[in-house]
Amino acid sequence: MPDSFYITTPIYYVNDVPHIGHAYTTIAADVVTRWHRQNGRKAYFLTGTDEHGQKVHEAATARGMAPQAHVDELCQPFQELWERLQITNDDFIRTTEPRHTDVVKAVLQKLFDAGDIYAADYEGWYSKSEERFWTEKDLVDGKCPMSGNPVEWLKEKNYFFKMAKYADQLREWIADHPDFLQPKSRKNEVLGYLKKEVGDLCISRPNHRLPWGIPLPFDEGYVTYVWFDALLNYVSAIGYHPEGSTDEFSTRWPATFHLVGKDILTTHSVYFSTMLFALGERPAQCLYAHGWWTVEGQKMGKSTGNAVDPHLLIDCYGVDAVRYFLLREIPFGGDGDFSHGAFMTRYNADLANDLGNLAHRSLSMTEKWLGGQVPALDKDTARDQVLSALAAETLQTFSTQIEQLHFSLALEALWTLVRAGNKYIDDEEPWRLNREGQTERLGGVMRRCLEVCRVAAILLAPFCPNKSRELADKLGVGELEVAAAGRLDGLTTGHPVPPGEPLFPRLVELPERIQETLAALIPEAAEKAAEKAKAKAKKHEKEAPVSEETTDETPRISIDDFFKVELRAGKVVDAESHPNADRLLVLKVDIGEAEPRNIVAGIANKYSPADLVGKQVVIVANLKPAKLRGVVSEGMLLACGGKSIEGLVTVDPECAPGAVVR
Ligand code: MSP
Repeated sequence: MPDSFYITTPIYYVNDVPHIGHAYTTIAADVVTRWHRQNGRKAYFLTGTDEHGQKVHEAATARGMAPQAHVDELCQPFQELWERLQITNDDFIRTTEPRHTDVVKAVLQKLFDAGDIYAADYEGWYSKSEERFWTEKDLVDGKCPMSGNPVEWLKEKNYFFKMAKYADQLREWIADHPDFLQPKSRKNEVLGYLKKEVGDLCISRPNHRLPWGIPLPFDEGYVTYVWFDALLNYVSAIGYHPEGSTDEFSTRWPATFHLVGKDILTTHSVYFSTMLFALGERPAQCLYAHGWWTVEGQKMGKSTGNAVDPHLLIDCYGVDAVRYFLLREIPFGGDGDFSHGAFMTRYNADLANDLGNLAHRSLSMTEKWLGGQVPALDKDTARDQVLSALAAETLQTFSTQIEQLHFSLALEALWTLVRAGNKYIDDEEPWRLNREGQTERLGGVMRRCLEVCRVAAILLAPFCPNKSRELADKLGVGELEVAAAGRLDGLTTGHPVPPGEPLFPRLVELPERIQETLAALIPEAAEKAAEKAKAKAKKHEKEAPVSEETTDETPRISIDDFFKVELRAGKVVDAESHPNADRLLVLKVDIGEAEPRNIVAGIANKYSPADLVGKQVVIVANLKPAKLRGVVSEGMLLACGGKSIEGLVTVDPECAPGAVVR
């Protein structure tokens, strides 16, 4: 990776408020920018709004507003949403700003003077919604091939950019720069487009048809075609000028990445690259086209879009979870569906269960058994070495994937480590180490678990900046240094690490506001989502051996509460009737101790003493002894049933008396 990194999002039309598609690209750009900054590289991130053109003009007219007043107002919801999503863009360009319009005019003049822009009469099918002409053969069923909207036959004088002149240069460029267009599947679409003859590009609109745009400097009767204007934002914002650019431009250009949706890859790759060639400049290093989101299985429109309104999502799920879900759920480049049921599943499985639990278990056990301070490492065992090696490998894979914009694969790599952390706890059995008084080893084990949490806090930072900070604070970690994520020894021994609140409380059901919104906007999805979400939540409750507190109607205990109960396998070596109670029996149960335990059990309704001798049972071994009708009981037998016993809980005969049950 070069030292300097420049990334852009498309500039969004201000014909409406921002939706999840806009948020998606912007979050992706933010994540990769944060990552590079975290690595000490100079990253520059540009986004903005596209404020000219037919769509925006129509939106202003529909609101009865002057276009400038309309765009001044509607660029704000974008800026506000980026603030709420904690987008760290360095600049926000608006195409109505003089710093941009001046550059567009200068570019037009330069290309006009050079003969690369010429006037001609043009006849063709014009699509109002796409703001472009089509030839007869382009049409699909007589309609616009992109929008499916009706087209009208127009004949008028217009200005054209000699795009055809640069088509071969573009073909060569693509051949020489295999990483220029990504992902591969989308690259093929552009190659298909370039296989056909490339025409010149109409870059003007007569004033009488569209009065809103940058006037052509050489003919005031026309405004600039919105795409020719908008694409130049990527260079105007960083100091490009055809008569002499700033130093800033030479350090930033060519951009590292232009992130775009799949629908606008052609305009970016063909229009913009040929424009740059005409100006004697190079295109960006990579144009990366992502896929489109559907909503609850349907194409995103006005009402489906509102069902996933970014503000609603942030309010109900929290900003970090929204950022995480969008980049984790589908590979960047592919299409995907946003459903609230899927959101809840992903949230509970990855954030609440995997990461949330790892953090909560590790911190709680450290608090309970090790005084709530980072314990010292002990000598590595083979299993410890495997975990350390995995941490090093995770950093490698994570870095490679995120830098290639494979966000979901980067997160998958991190989750492999998080899951390994949970498995490590299960394998090492810290509760056993505690019981057996193996304090040094217990400390070493818990230290490694806390170290895995530290690695997760570092690598999760670009995606979930708040939760990552929260976790780092719990662990006493200041700067989230990437280099320190490859080793399991970055914490400070003795630093206090109180568990505090769970990082990601479980979602037990769809938030009420989401249920209401879905019911109002996509009723068919509402029921399905709620049912699915409930079923999934139940399933995860069962699957997750350790879960954080919930607010379910059944009171829940934490894993730590559960670990307080010491269950042991035992063998009944003697049994007799209780001298003072018909319903009770008095048993002697061998649980591997010097003497069998005396246990009084209320099972006489089901068993006679003779039935019991030799049975392998389970007992609660750490109950305080109690006198039952005059006989001391030193434990409790596990049995099924309510008031009347249906049967004893027994264990496999292979289990030795005293074996831990968990
Ligand atoms: N103004 C132009 C871009 C000019 S860039 C020089 C434009 N604006 S837009 O507001 O209509 O769309 C912006 C982006 O949103 C595009 O990248 C588009 O792919 C993306 N999306 C629109 N709907 C989307 C989904 N349903 N899902 C994902 N992204 C979507 O085009």
